[in-house]
Amino acid sequence: MCGIVGYTGPKQAYPIVLKGLKRLEYRGYDSSGVALMNDGKLSVYKKKGKVAELEDYMIGKDVSAHIGIGHTRWATHGEPSDRNAHPHTSANGRFAMIHNGIIENYAQIKNELTNKGYSFTSDTDTEVLLNFIENIQQHNDCSLEEALRIALKRVTGAYCILLVDSEDPETIIAARKGSPLVIGVGKGEHFLASDASPIIEYTKEVVYVNDYELAIVKPNELILKNLGNEKITPFITKLDMELAAIEKGGYDHFMLKEIFEQPSTIFDCLRGRLDAVSGTITMAGIDQHIEQLKAANRILIIACGTSWHAALVAEYVIEELCRIPVEVEYASEFRYRNPIVNKGDVIIAISQSGETADTLVALEKAKENGAFIFGVVNAVGSSIARISHAGAYTHAGPEIGVASTKAFTGQLAVLTMMALSIAIQKGSITQERYQQLLTELQDVPEKVDAILKNADELKVIAEVYKDASDFLFLGRGYNFPIALEGALKLKEISYIHAEGYPAAEMKHGPIALVDENLPVVFIATKDSYHEKIISNMQEIKARKGKIISIITEGDEVSPGLSNHVFSIPPADELIAPILSVIPLQLLSYYTGVLKGIDVDKPRNLAKSVTVE
Ligand code: AGP
Ligand code: GLU
Repeated sequence: MCGIVGYTGPKQAYPIVLKGLKRLEYRGYDSSGVALMNDGKLSVYKKKGKVAELEDYMIGKDVSAHIGIGHTRWATHGEPSDRNAHPHTSANGRFAMIHNGIIENYAQIKNELTNKGYSFTSDTDTEVLLNFIENIQQHNDCSLEEALRIALKRVTGAYCILLVDSEDPETIIAARKGSPLVIGVGKGEHFLASDASPIIEYTKEVVYVNDYELAIVKPNELILKNLGNEKITPFITKLDMELAAIEKGGYDHFMLKEIFEQPSTIFDCLRGRLDAVSGTITMAGIDQHIEQLKAANRILIIACGTSWHAALVAEYVIEELCRIPVEVEYASEFRYRNPIVNKGDVIIAISQSGETADTLVALEKAKENGAFIFGVVNAVGSSIARISHAGAYTHAGPEIGVASTKAFTGQLAVLTMMALSIAIQKGSITQERYQQLLTELQDVPEKVDAILKNADELKVIAEVYKDASDFLFLGRGYNFPIALEGALKLKEISYIHAEGYPAAEMKHGPIALVDENLPVVFIATKDSYHEKIISNMQEIKARKGKIISIITEGDEVSPGLSNHVFSIPPADELIAPILSVIPLQLLSYYTGVLKGIDVDKPRNLAKSVTVE
């Protein structure tokens, strides 16, 4: 995990690095630090806690420097503390390094170095790699670049590293394998970062560094090489992103901003693709591969967390519309078993960040086995987008809050369009049903807007139940994955234990939890299961559980059984999950805020889980 920033050029490096760290804080925030180099003097400052604590700590310090690197950490090796924070300094004090990832064989290397007399000031794998590089450099009396190349050939695991050398006061050396790195190309200056958000303010020209590449970055020069020391021509891409898209824009939290952005992010996702008037869906990634998709024997969907919930909704939708069997896999399980992937299978990978390590490695494995991979990704240019054979972006814009909200509804919109597109071309749905669903989908942004206008009703419900110790979320059919998502959101943002269950399955176990203290959220919109879910409500009411129901406007039965209701506009059952999740996002948000939790950065989590 973690965020990495670097700058080399004529400007003062510290303010650029600090601002960059704040933008990347969503990636990890248990400690942060900077290394600044001024006239060959290397100074390292680091602090446990969020970037704001580092900022306070730096007040009064001499921060003048034209080269700097900074890191915001999500600990893997060693507790969050000042001494485990990055940057780390090599034993002789000459080099400083920051690292995103995990060095898997660090213990063996550490042992070798200890036998050579090295001792360590932190518990991190990063310090081991740095001293390994230092040791090679001293032993071979070679350049840092050469030493790094030799070291990386021995290393297993994932890394994006930035290194500075006090004997080379203009250069940052970077390398990546498995963790992202973007280099911004300015006029006589370069910016390095884990994603484009720290760079966008200064330049829109960027180079995405690939795995097994090394970058030697000076103010006026960017050299890319592979580990075999051969030069590679940097490929400059133009960023299509505005600074305003990554700032809070008047909202108290990114999460709230992102929830409220959904009418426009869903609209952007549909725009230019779905045309209900002409009855068409145009998605290049699908159109170019339609034969393969139509003929798929089976679709496997791989994802984690909220993206996995989107996959479950897609399973219901694709099977219903396309009549193709779908299996949904947790990426972390898929990658370690011996999965059966046959010729003719299609793999869909869903990821907001496009950098989730479990998903990425699962895909690499499937790709090696010859599978066709279709990526549904939000972050443009991310690793998953790049390793997929084809794909469709969700176009939700940068998602900063740790809890995924607008990316999820974007995923649902893309997957529904995808299913509709395959179904109509395969002939597995009628033209009439297709047309009806296109119109329904087109109406979603307006309906989301209507839901958001009543957000305050959820604040009231959150106030009533904020001190509950457990919650149960129940849904059936298309809304079952939304029950899981509602429970995950609440856990992440409010630290209240919550479970999501298929409403009918509840009587096979969780019903034992029900008493007058247990809030039970029903996602009970009008669909073909509605009467069944009403019976499940009766079962909870009979045991005195507190019922909060998300219902369709005009439902006259559910209010009589519920302690609280929140109504959403009517929608086809296939489309309803895109709407029914919105009140659950708001319920978690308000509960978290009322409990005084930093909802954008809840404890132990990171936005982009780039480690196993
Ligand atoms: C969502 O609220 C979570 N923070 C998390 O479950 C997330 O969805 C998961 O880590 C997958 O991330 P991705 O979509 O970026 O691959
Ligand atoms: N493995 C390193 C550590 O624990 C880096 C973790 C990160 O990516 O933040 O410090």
